[in-house]
Amino acid sequence: MKRSFVITELLKKKRDGGTLDAEELEWLIRNYVKGAIPDYQMSAFLMAVYFRGMSSDELLNFVRIMRDSGAKLDLSRVPGFHLDKHSTGGVGDKISLVLAPVLASLGLSVPMISGRGLGHSGGTLDKLEAIPGLKTRIPVQRFVEILSQVGFVIAGQTEDMVPADKKLYALRDATATVDSIPLVVGSILSKKLAEDLDGLILDVKTGKGAFFPKKKDAVQLARILVEIATEFGVITRALLTSMDQPVGYAVGNWLEVVETVDCLTNQGPEDTMELVEALAVLALQVSGDRHPLNHQLARIRKAISSGEAFDRFLRYVSLMGGDPAILEHPERFPLPKPVVYTAPREGYIEDLDAYRIGMAAFYAGAGRLKVEDPVDAVAGIRLHKKMGDWVQQDEPIAEIYTVRVDMLDQILEEISSAVRIIPYKPVQTEPLIYGEVTLKGEIRSFP
Ligand code: URA
Repeated sequence: MKRSFVITELLKKKRDGGTLDAEELEWLIRNYVKGAIPDYQMSAFLMAVYFRGMSSDELLNFVRIMRDSGAKLDLSRVPGFHLDKHSTGGVGDKISLVLAPVLASLGLSVPMISGRGLGHSGGTLDKLEAIPGLKTRIPVQRFVEILSQVGFVIAGQTEDMVPADKKLYALRDATATVDSIPLVVGSILSKKLAEDLDGLILDVKTGKGAFFPKKKDAVQLARILVEIATEFGVITRALLTSMDQPVGYAVGNWLEVVETVDCLTNQGPEDTMELVEALAVLALQVSGDRHPLNHQLARIRKAISSGEAFDRFLRYVSLMGGDPAILEHPERFPLPKPVVYTAPREGYIEDLDAYRIGMAAFYAGAGRLKVEDPVDAVAGIRLHKKMGDWVQQDEPIAEIYTVRVDMLDQILEEISSAVRIIPYKPVQTEPLIYGEVTLKGEIRSFP
């Protein structure tokens, strides 16, 4: 016989540091999704979890119940090793757009369900929708068809997948409970585990523009994500990477699409390609490839230099309703005339704070405050310099693309506070890729 519960008793238990069992959690989440528990009581639960955390078993149950709150993908008819990559997000992070067609060219099958940007951090779906005509909401049947034809697909969640996360994420956003490790793990893994995956690779970011700026927290998040996803039978590994400065030079939806095309045509920025290659090696290893590193790297580079990955990307864009021609001639895309931010003095760039640059792009119109807000495809920041570069006085550091002329002062202020110029060459202490986070929470050099 099913047990029934009193909501205030469950809240009290969690508030006082207790552990909810599977039935209690299921009752809570099921009733919240169907509207029988109001937001104010669920908010109290979220805040209790924020302060009290969850035990391993509790988190395992939470992820399973969230995943099972709606429909799941069935990829049994799509051949190949099904692998997805998830990044915990940041500024200028267009890696998924480059990596997915590269992995498909290497023979992997990549069903990627992505999200939208929020605040200072961008979202893969917003970037893709900057391509004229492209829509990221597609029916499940179409998702499976495109995956079978191109080897990868990037799309939004369908209406009926993981409804618990859709509701809870909006509530977390409104109750300052986003940056809680168990709630983030529940949110990310419930969606990933609904994708019928064999393997999952994670790019967990740390640094100024990351969700968890402190390395200790990001390592803990990575370790728990790997532990829980592995418990569900998905081969999972995680890299810890830096989000101190933006990835690449482009921040903003269309600008990042253009940089994606650069990457896929062998002209990508060094840091972006370093991340793409490391994650591609990790994906190959997760899929069971035992070849030496130089062999794997040669295959990855060939997927790009041969044009195969770009060709797959163009086919994907076309099947999603987008205009592939504009990607071959991005200069035809109408952009506003940029406002240029120049160096106030000569010297070396010691800091290019990803959070501040992300906020500048947000004020320019590239980001949103609430999940349902619209974003402006043309808005963004194009950097001319990266950390460690020399700059002359009055030399351009960043171009601002925006139609929000009234926001220019605020945008310039953000960029100005992001940039620190010093007279001597800074010592680079933090690497771009810290390494792989092991189940013991150690960081092992990678690749
Ligand atoms: N991304 C998600 O999908 N959920 C979170 O909670 C944080 C990042």
